[in-house]
Amino acid sequence: MDAERVIAAAQSVETPVAAVDVAAMESNLAAMQDRAAGLRLRLRPHAKTHKSAFVARRQLEHGATGLTAATLTEAELFADAGADDLLIAFPPVGEIRLRRLAALAERVGRLAVSLDSVKAAAALPERVEVLWEVDSGHHRIGTAPGDATVAGVTALVAAIGEERFRGLLTFPGHAYAVANRAELARVAAAEHRVMLETAAQLRAAGIAVRELSVGSTPTSSWTEAGPTEMRPGSYVYGDAQQVVLGAMSLEECALGVVATVVSTPAPDRAVIDAGSKALAADARLSLLRGYGIVVGHQDLVLERMSEEHGMLVATGAQTRLRIGDRLLVIPAHCCTTVNLHPAVLMVEAGTAWWDPVAARGWQAAGAGTPPAGQASGMVTPPAAQASGGASLARPSAIHLRDLRPSGGG
Ligand SMILES: Cc1ncc(COP(=O)(O)O)c(C=O)c1O
Repeated sequence: MDAERVIAAAQSVETPVAAVDVAAMESNLAAMQDRAAGLRLRLRPHAKTHKSAFVARRQLEHGATGLTAATLTEAELFADAGADDLLIAFPPVGEIRLRRLAALAERVGRLAVSLDSVKAAAALPERVEVLWEVDSGHHRIGTAPGDATVAGVTALVAAIGEERFRGLLTFPGHAYAVANRAELARVAAAEHRVMLETAAQLRAAGIAVRELSVGSTPTSSWTEAGPTEMRPGSYVYGDAQQVVLGAMSLEECALGVVATVVSTPAPDRAVIDAGSKALAADARLSLLRGYGIVVGHQDLVLERMSEEHGMLVATGAQTRLRIGDRLLVIPAHCCTTVNLHPAVLMVEAGTAWWDPVAARGWQAAGAGTPPAGQASGMVTPPAAQASGGASLARPSAIHLRDLRPSGGG
């Protein structure tokens, strides 16, 4: 990331502001596409990282076979952006989700969900395929590899038919809890081993397994031939977690939050205007000191955050910062940081423009925006009724000045 360019581009903008170095992002997109091609894997990026129609289109233009989403709101936006092959890696439980899923299934060529329950699968619309989730060690969703998964998939196939069972999926989220690279390599190896062994067991039982979907950004460096597709998400922007895990370099990070020093209460402490409402506070990693990396200031640790304040502490005697200085912070976690901002500033040579983080939240586009919502019989929550609904305006409807001279984005 070209920190100087990003800070300069944000000069006329209020801080804190999330900004993306488009050249670095493009290079990350190309590198992951090459990695997948080298392994003969299809790339299905997890697009929850950016929640952006523009970035989704760039991933597809780079050669992604399709996209992964976590929410219906994301999947609907990506379908609008032209994605015709979507995977929702989250169990679509509940009548409202199922209704939206059925409508989405009519709009795209291929649609699948991942889940670990036959009951949830039996309620799915006909056109939706299923990836059965295997727990390769993260202990979130999924059945244990081996016999438990074989039993689950056997019951699934009996309930929905073999044609709609696409294959197995796992997410190795425990990769973020490792203490070193050797452990990371072991997590990645185990992820692929349990998937291949369980698929072999299913095939021996006469069940076709067409897809083995794996991946995360940190384990993508270790992926071997065998799976059919991988789903890294964070690679598009990178973050401090990827840097300390050795999965990406600081230079490869494309997203930063530009912040201003607003107080220097002690020689070894300064306060910036980016707290937990601008920077992710869910740092998943023990290896990471603080809530991000301050570019060009290796001696500063973002030690604490309250909502609007970020407390920087110098490892030496002095921060050498002055009130008004602007800094670029690479957040600990890019996905949750982006979700805090209605739009990110896309910075290119000589230009900068706003890209809406349009798929934030869980409601369908336009929900809660009266009077149209009320007219169509939708429920408007009390807060919106009291304020005339302005508080529920969709992020994409927030008017942001386009800094780009003509078109684009
Ligand atoms: C199901 C699933 N797949 C893929 C990913 C992408 O992982 P990463 O952001 O580490 O690349 C995630 C991220 O949380 C996920 O939940």
